[in-house]
Amino acid sequence: MTVESSKIVLLSPDQAVRDSLRAAMRSVERIEISTLGMNVTELTDYSAFDDAALVILDIDGRKRDHLLALQKIMIWLRGQKNVVVLTDSFDDAVGRWFLQIRVSDFLRKPIRPEELRTVCLKTVRGASSDGQGGEIITFVPAAGGVGNTTIAIEAAMQTMKSAGAVGRTTCLVDLDFAGGSCAEYLDLEPRLELGEIGPEGERLDIQLLEVMSSKHASGLSLIAAPARPCEPSQFSPQVIARLLDTVSGCFDNVIIDMPRYWTPWFDSVLGGSDRIFVVTDMTVPGLRAARRAIAKIAARIEGVAPRVIVNRASRNFLFGGGLRNADVERALTNTLAGSVANNYQLVREAIDRGVPLAAVKEGNKISADLKRIIFSNAA
Ligand SMILES: Nc1ncnc2c1ncn2[C@@H]1O[C@H](COP(=O)(O)OP(=O)(O)OP(=O)(O)O)[C@@H](O)[C@H]1O
Ligand SMILES: [Mg+2]
Repeated sequence: MTVESSKIVLLSPDQAVRDSLRAAMRSVERIEISTLGMNVTELTDYSAFDDAALVILDIDGRKRDHLLALQKIMIWLRGQKNVVVLTDSFDDAVGRWFLQIRVSDFLRKPIRPEELRTVCLKTVRGASSDGQGGEIITFVPAAGGVGNTTIAIEAAMQTMKSAGAVGRTTCLVDLDFAGGSCAEYLDLEPRLELGEIGPEGERLDIQLLEVMSSKHASGLSLIAAPARPCEPSQFSPQVIARLLDTVSGCFDNVIIDMPRYWTPWFDSVLGGSDRIFVVTDMTVPGLRAARRAIAKIAARIEGVAPRVIVNRASRNFLFGGGLRNADVERALTNTLAGSVANNYQLVREAIDRGVPLAAVKEGNKISADLKRIIFSNAA
C-alpha cells in the first residue's frame, strides 16, 4: 500500500480517545493530526480522509449500524488507505470480518497511548522518504543444517544495531515451528501460542503479540513458538498472514527464519517479503539444492528476486570435496549474494552462551561477511 502523506485522521466521539492520540504523538515531528468528534454513523462527507496516510475509526463493534458505516467507508476508500479500527470487545466473527474488509489493524479499547503511537508511526514511517523504511527479510534454507537459523539470527542482530541507531525497531520471527531453534540459540523462552489466536488469527492484536514475544538481552525481540518436532505445520495461511501483519505493524524490520519444507503458507510469506535469501553451504549438493530453491521461488513469486548466501565457505582456495570459489560463482550465476566464513568454534560458543557472534568476538569474519551481504544488497 503506498502512503503519500503523514496526516492521521481520527474519528471518535470520545474526547479522551482524541486527547490520547494527540498526547501519544506529541513528541513526533512531521505528523499532522486531524480529529472528527462524532460517531461513525454521523459521517457523511468522506473528503475528510482525502489526504490521510492513516484513518483511525473509533466504532462500537457490537452495533450493526456502526459496522455498516465502517463497511461503507472501506468501500469508498477502495483499499487506498490504511484503516485502523478502535473498538470495545467484539466477537471472533467480527474480528474475522475486519480482516475480510481489509482493515489494517484493530485495537481493543481501552487503548494504551503506546499502542496508538506504534500503529501511527508504522504508517508514517512508511510515508517518509528518507529511504530508511523498514523491510521484511526472509531466509530460506536450501537444505537441512546449512546454517539458516545462525544466519537469520546474525542478520537480525545486525539489522537491530543499524536500525536502532535511527530509532527503528527489529524483530526476529521463527517460522520453523518444528525446529524452534531461534529461541534455543538465543536462550530465550518461546512464548508464541498460535493455537490461541483463533482459526484465522482474529484474536491477535498488538497487546497479545507483546505477551507472546520474547526479548533478548541485546534488545532483539523474538517471536517463536515452542518446538514441535516431527509435527507438520497445522497453521493456516490466514493465521500466519495475521501474525506477520501484526508483527510488521509493531516493528520496522522483520527477519524471518523459514522451515526446510514447503508449507501451505510458504508462498504468501515469500510474496510479502522485501528480500529473500536462500541459505546453503559450500558443497555440491548444497549448491544444487540452492539452484532448485531459487528456481522454485522464482517460478512462484513475482517481484522479489531471491539470492543465495553460501554459508561455511572456506577462505582457502580448495574446500572439502574440492569446490573452488569460481565453481560456486558459475553454479549460482547472477543469484549469488555472497559467502559467509566457516568458523564452527565461534558459532558454537555464541549458541552455547545465547549471545550474538560479536559478543564472543567483536569484528569476526562471519559478522563482517553477512554485514556486507545484508547492507549492500538492500532493496
Ligand atoms: N558460518 C558457520 N561456520 C561454522 N559453523 C556454522 C556456521 N553457520 C552455522 N554453523 C553450524 O552449523 C550447524 C547448523 O546451523 P543452524 O542450526 O543455524 O542451521 P539450520 O539450517 O537452521 O538447521 P536446521 O535445518 O536444523 O534448521 C550448527 O551446529 C551451527 O553451529
Ligand atoms: Mg534452523
